[in-house]
This record gives sequence, structure tokens and C-alpha cells, in this order.
Amino acid sequence: MFEVSSEELILWIQNTLNNEDENRDSLYLLIDLLGGISRTEINSLRIKPQKVINLRVSLNSLSERWREFIHNKKPIQYICSSCYWRDLNLEVNKNVLIPRVETEQIIEIVLNLISDSTNELLITDLGTGSGAVAISLALKSSLWKVLATDIEPKAIKLASKNFKKYSKINNLKLFCGSWWQPLKKYSGKIDIAISNPPYIPSNIYKNLSIAVKNHEPQSALDGGDDGLLHIREIIKEAPKYLKKDGWLLLENHCDQSQKVKTLMKNNGFGQIEIIKDMFNIGRFTIGRYK
Ligand SMILES: C[S@@+](CC[C@H](N)C(=O)[O-])C[C@H]1O[C@@H](n2cnc3c(N)ncnc32)[C@H](O)[C@@H]1O
Repeated sequence: MFEVSSEELILWIQNTLNNEDENRDSLYLLIDLLGGISRTEINSLRIKPQKVINLRVSLNSLSERWREFIHNKKPIQYICSSCYWRDLNLEVNKNVLIPRVETEQIIEIVLNLISDSTNELLITDLGTGSGAVAISLALKSSLWKVLATDIEPKAIKLASKNFKKYSKINNLKLFCGSWWQPLKKYSGKIDIAISNPPYIPSNIYKNLSIAVKNHEPQSALDGGDDGLLHIREIIKEAPKYLKKDGWLLLENHCDQSQKVKTLMKNNGFGQIEIIKDMFNIGRFTIGRYK
């Protein structure tokens, strides 16, 4: 542990930010994830200047990592190898996307579909990355069996590590392979399938920030010319794997929900609904296989 006074830490924050207030959230996140002091704790220190704080790393070490953020535009979550997502603290690395805040809503959407949580359910998360969605759902009930796939073997390894940190129960199975392909033996048995696939149209991907393009995997984001390459494949194959009355829930790009709705309709889905995210964007499309 590295002892500093509240005064020292507050001064270090001011000097490090150097009046660049737009970086404040990132700096607080760095201090939290690496130093072990939350933003709420820092705020309370302002009224206790003499208080001694035990940081997990030295201020020099925090400064070094901060330079990596400023100069290389490397996201804080990759610098610290961890991120918060809902009530989880997940390990992340360059092989997986940093799970986004808007994706957190997927869990509420799924929970709203389930009328009786004492029933056994077979749920799939296609393109699981760090495992955020699959792990959250597997932790909700030991009666639910979650099957998660990803094309990237290193993502599967990391998702497995993340799950073991939170659970000793074996109700999450991870498979390396393309979308539904590893789930052949579950054909016609799946109750709820979820996917947050790569859906950004390639021309938009090309213009994303350096923080995203240089550090996050392109294979997690780029959805081809119209962004719908993977969504089309997932919807087309879904009827083979879902139970009759099974649900398919997809996250999509801001302007894709009507197209996703049509794709679902043309592939045997009913009760299709577009659900808005916290930014009032039609971010999720859900349908029931008839
Ligand atoms: C947008 S990321 C979502 C990751 C995670 N579910 C989340 O919400 O944070 C898309 C994921 O799909 C995976 N992926 C890309 N192509 C795939 C494919 N053909 N089959 C399975 N997974 C794929 C990527 O490796 C990546 O982990």
C-alpha cells in the first residue's frame, strides 16, 4: 500500500488534469480501478485534507499509466485490465470489446421476458466477448443454463476466467466457433438467444476514434458494408436453434432497428418490438419465433 494524504491526492489530480476537464471521468476511473479509491471516496476527502489514504499503487505509477492514456489514447479499462459492468468487475484485454453501458439494459430486457424464474431455461449469448451478458445471466439463477459462443479463442478463455471469479456453479458453457455453429446439439431447444454482434457499418468504423480503432478488436465492431452482415446470419439461422415461442434479442446500431425488424419478420418471428436505450435510441430488437 502507498500512503498519501488527501491533500496530496487532490493536488495530484489537479496537476494531472491540467485544466482538461473532459478527462476527469477517465482519471477518476484510473484511480478507482488501479489505485483502489472510488470517486465517492475522493469527493469525501475534500473535507478531510489531513486524512491518510492507502493507494494500491504509487502516484508515480498512476502518472505513468495516465501518460499511456493521454499519448496512446489507450482506454483506461485496457490500461487497468478491468472494467465495471453492472455489478461486475470484469477483466478485459485487447482481444475483447470493453462492454458498453447501453448493453447493460439487455439483462433487464431478458428478466422482463421471464415470468417464472424458478423454471429451467436454456439461454445463449452469441459473441460473448468478456462474457458480460452470459455471466450476468448465469449468476441470476442456477436453474438457467447459459451457452455462450465467440469466434475468438482468447475471448472464450477470458470469459471463462471472469465467470470463475464469480461462480463455483457450472451453469455457463463456453464454445469457440461462429455464432450458432457450436450449438448444433441444442437445435430446437433454446428458450432465449441474445447477441450484441459487430454491427457498425464499415465506412462508419473507419471514422471511429483512435481509442476504439487502435485498441479494440475490429472483429468485435465491424459489421460489413451495411453493418448487418452478422445480424442477417444470426437471424437466418435462429429458427433452427430456438424453441417454438423462443425469443431472439439483438443489439443493433442506432439506425438499424427497422431493418432488423423486417429481417426478423421475414424469418418467422412475431411479437417484434424495438426497445430504446438510455439515450432514446432504438438499440434493441426482440422477436419471438412462431
Ligand atoms: C460487439 S462485441 C460484443 C461482446 C460482448 N457480448 C459485449 O456485449 O460486450 C461482438 C463479439 O462478437 C464476436 N464475434 C465476431 N464474429 C463472430 C462470429 N462469427 N461468431 C461468434 N462471435 C463472433 C467478437 O469476437 C466479439 O466478442
